[in-house]
Amino acid sequence: REDELLGSVVAERKRRVAAVIEEVERSLATPTALLRSIADAMVTEMERGLRGDIHAQLKMLISYVDNLPTGDEHGLFYALDLGGTNFRVLRVQLGGREKRVVKQQYEEVSIPPHLMVGTSMELFDFIAAALAKFVDTEGEDFHLPEGRQRELGFTFSFPVNQTSISSGTLIKWTKGFSINGAVGEDVVSELSRAMERQGLDMKVTALVNDTVGTLAGGRYNDNDVVAAVILGTGTNAAYVEHANAIPKWTGLLPKSGNMVSARTPYTWKTKVYATIVINTEWGSFKSDKLPLSEYDKIMDFESLNPGEQIYEKMISGMYLGEIVRRILLKLAHDASLFGDVVPPKLEQPFVLRTPDMSAMHHDSSHDLKILGSKLKDIVGIADTSLEVRYITRHICDLVAERGARLAAAGIYSILKKIGRDKVPNGESKMPRTVVALDGGLYEHYKKFSSCVEATLTDLLGEEASSSVVAKLANDGSGIGAALLAASHSQYAEVD
Ligand code: GLC
Repeated sequence: REDELLGSVVAERKRRVAAVIEEVERSLATPTALLRSIADAMVTEMERGLRGDIHAQLKMLISYVDNLPTGDEHGLFYALDLGGTNFRVLRVQLGGREKRVVKQQYEEVSIPPHLMVGTSMELFDFIAAALAKFVDTEGEDFHLPEGRQRELGFTFSFPVNQTSISSGTLIKWTKGFSINGAVGEDVVSELSRAMERQGLDMKVTALVNDTVGTLAGGRYNDNDVVAAVILGTGTNAAYVEHANAIPKWTGLLPKSGNMVSARTPYTWKTKVYATIVINTEWGSFKSDKLPLSEYDKIMDFESLNPGEQIYEKMISGMYLGEIVRRILLKLAHDASLFGDVVPPKLEQPFVLRTPDMSAMHHDSSHDLKILGSKLKDIVGIADTSLEVRYITRHICDLVAERGARLAAAGIYSILKKIGRDKVPNGESKMPRTVVALDGGLYEHYKKFSSCVEATLTDLLGEEASSSVVAKLANDGSGIGAALLAASHSQYAEVD
């Protein structure tokens, strides 16, 4: 009788676990047909953004970069990269076409969490102080010609309304930053004032988004790079657009710089177009086509920026672990996954970080030992059953796969936008097309990055995908900003 009772309790618990998992699988599903329609919706939003429609979800910000690196850049340049949990300072001695990067050094500093939600003066003072300290360690391998001011490329990885290559105002904070009084301000003036307060004599000659920096860094190494994608704390993409495909661009068309030859669709004559790099800010995309689950909705509601960055919240490193935590919590509440008591630690937002999720997901040992010990650290339960571990890994898999497949749909939409998604009519092959990718999520979460690549291949089909290369551009954005500082140097004319 007791056995019977126990058996039915166990069976009931299993039934409840299975019900939650089924519901999660259903709400996170991303069939290929859905990804295609998401990509189409993204292309439509890109076009709206390029027209300057204020309701467009993709802002399609003009970067003022019409000159991507050529390899001829030379001299000493600094870069500062702000936008995730760490910021980086870097210096590079560029040696022109022959010698390329002669020497580079960098330092990484983590940002104390209180500075991410403090005042902008505190944040910029902290950064400028670290930069000044770094400049002090400049050794003999670096040469600044007599009488010249040091120059800096500033990678600022938030949406900015650029007013020139070296100025722009912050549109909004993303990725857990929330600093009062900074929105609408020129970030270059804020940094410059902080540098002055530190007694640091340096000029910001390029202000770039990390995607634009990665594109520049990628192009320096490979001429076929047409787009750059960040999959890190946040997610975003930049790409090279024809200037005459940007109706909202009212400035002069660049006369020099990166020109591309392309066939005009109607006459099939080859014409030369000027190009401009566009920062899509695709993280803010939302659509009822996106497979948004109840976990996403509540996470968004409780976030610092509710209703915003919905696509980013389904894909990027800041959020994936948190989504897994919310699903595990549901399993604990509704199906007693971790026993009769819901582990109190599991109630804590963001205890499960994406790197931990990645470690759990990659555990392929038969007893899932690593996963078990992670659960012990995170949830506080020492002896989880093998079944519980398998379920946890399955949840990691579902959440990572949805994020990776959605990211692939985004990349596919950019390739569609620039006509690199299929072999052109009358041609036998598509030109080699390289997408530079950077960000901790892409670099370190292997199951995630291989799923992005496999899904992209699937969306493109065999023929087109054989011409598309996804290339890791490790720290492309730092070196890219330094290269853009070089090509926009105040001394460029003199040289
Ligand atoms: C966020 C920012 C965007 C940045 C991306 C990746 O989406 O808004 O500017 O490029 O994160 O860091």
